[in-house]
Amino acid sequence: MSSKIGIIGSGIVGQTLANGFVKHGYAVMIGTNTPGKREELTSKTNAKASIGSFEETATFGEVVVLATKGTAAEAALKAAGIANLNGKTIIDTTNPIADAPPVNGVLQYFTSQNESLMERLQATAPDAHFVKAFSCIGNAFMVNPDFGGVKPTMFICGNDDGAKREVKNILDLFGFEVADMGGVQGARAIEPLCILWCIPGFLSNSWTHAFRLLKK
Ligand SMILES: NC(=O)c1ccc[n+]([C@@H]2O[C@H](COP(=O)([O-])OP(=O)(O)OC[C@H]3O[C@@H](n4cnc5c(N)ncnc54)[C@H](OP(=O)(O)O)[C@@H]3O)[C@@H](O)[C@H]2O)c1
Repeated sequence: MSSKIGIIGSGIVGQTLANGFVKHGYAVMIGTNTPGKREELTSKTNAKASIGSFEETATFGEVVVLATKGTAAEAALKAAGIANLNGKTIIDTTNPIADAPPVNGVLQYFTSQNESLMERLQATAPDAHFVKAFSCIGNAFMVNPDFGGVKPTMFICGNDDGAKREVKNILDLFGFEVADMGGVQGARAIEPLCILWCIPGFLSNSWTHAFRLLKK
């Protein structure tokens, strides 16, 4: 099992997952593009994660988490150094949210239905092993969420079976049931779940739910 996690992007998702990985015994580096943010990040991670540039973080991580704003994701991969990502599992938390307001509670995306942000990222870093995860649940529920003993489902997809096994082990640890939606094109279905998840939030300030796939 990989023990070093590099997290590219230091917003609330990057910070939450950094603290989650620390809690589960991983060595964590969180990467920021903003040098003035280092002090704040040290405080937000109780000085238990190291802080680096995107490039230092990609080099450090045996597994890399991508947690940038969707519009900045491709640029962040390039800043991290594509060669530093080759052969690594990349947990892609990002969503292609456009810089435009929601329409009646429905987020706008800069991708269309027959493509996805993760496909663009996989094409940008073809030798990295992208796995979509954590994209369709609020950050407050990303680490061992308590839904009265019921595990939420985390929908994942990606082209590399080994990388998906690695992410499944992490998601087991973080308290999720995993539903594998196939190759990278599965992101065309998973990324829009964020739109659905956010509607009750925007319309009635209800942000405390999670998805579960029922099977028989
Ligand atoms: N918030 C949630 O609950 C949630 C839930 C599921 C999925 N997501 C997805 O997870 C990702 C991260 O979300 P977030 O809410 O943590 O924060 P965010 O505001 O979407 O952005 C996070 C980070 O993106 C980087 N960034 C922003 N603009 C950039 C630019 N022009 N160039 C390079 N980097 C840039 C910044 O890194 P630095 O400040 O470190 O430089 C920033 O901290 C998003 O794609 C979001 O859709 C969010």
